[in-house]
Amino acid sequence: MERAHDAVEMLDRPAPFLDLSQNLEDIARFNAFFGGTRLTLRHVKGLVADLPRDRSLTLLDVGTGGGDIPRALVRWARRAGRSIRIFALDREAETLRAAADRMAGYPEITLIQGDALALPVRPRSVDVAISALVLHHLTPAEAVASLAEMDRVARRGLVANDLFRSRVAHAVVWLTTRLLAKSRMSRHDGPMSVRRAYTCREVESLARRAALVSVRVHRYAWAFRLCAVRART
Ligand SMILES: C[S@@+](CC[C@H](N)C(=O)[O-])C[C@H]1O[C@@H](n2cnc3c(N)ncnc32)[C@H](O)[C@@H]1O
Repeated sequence: MERAHDAVEMLDRPAPFLDLSQNLEDIARFNAFFGGTRLTLRHVKGLVADLPRDRSLTLLDVGTGGGDIPRALVRWARRAGRSIRIFALDREAETLRAAADRMAGYPEITLIQGDALALPVRPRSVDVAISALVLHHLTPAEAVASLAEMDRVARRGLVANDLFRSRVAHAVVWLTTRLLAKSRMSRHDGPMSVRRAYTCREVESLARRAALVSVRVHRYAWAFRLCAVRART
């Protein structure tokens, strides 16, 4: 399946606030239900496993959308008795407004507006940089820049989680968005996200172009997800 590099998702264009908010809610439910959130959590835990438990963790989520993955990370940290601070970044002001509506009870999360291609963050200033469902929104050159930026700001490593492109993934996402999505944006964007997504090989190549050393791209066929993980030693 060829990558639909010139396809445009509704999320990439200004949308009525209610549609946007429902779409972010759908994405959060799909992340939770199909395991995308758990995969990011698993790799983040691996990257910080050898840090002292009394040391506060600092993370940056690039392209946070409604902020569902930062909230899941906070709940994990609370259960584990760890202190955590998460900077949840998105380019879109309206998206951040929708995220802010969901942040009651999560003082550990700070929303910031910024671009994945030029993160407003000092080098090595967070432990881990994460992103989820963002790479496919970016052209190859932008994806390379974004991975390089995540690598620049992170001390321990990065986790870039996204869908991978395949016919089966496309069919399953088409069907599940028709059956389960509340928002018309999700029904439009879901299958298109798969058509825009990169394959594992392509992400390996993007990571090489970003000069990321020792990146491993994990493929999770059951979740139609990949996670590019770079652990700094
Ligand atoms: C499909 S949503 C995923 C949201 C969230 N990561 C999740 O998994 O629930 C993609 C998000 O990336 C953001 N985004 C796209 N390009 C971006 C860029 N260049 N810089 C920052 N955010 C960007 C969009 O505004 C959108 O909120």
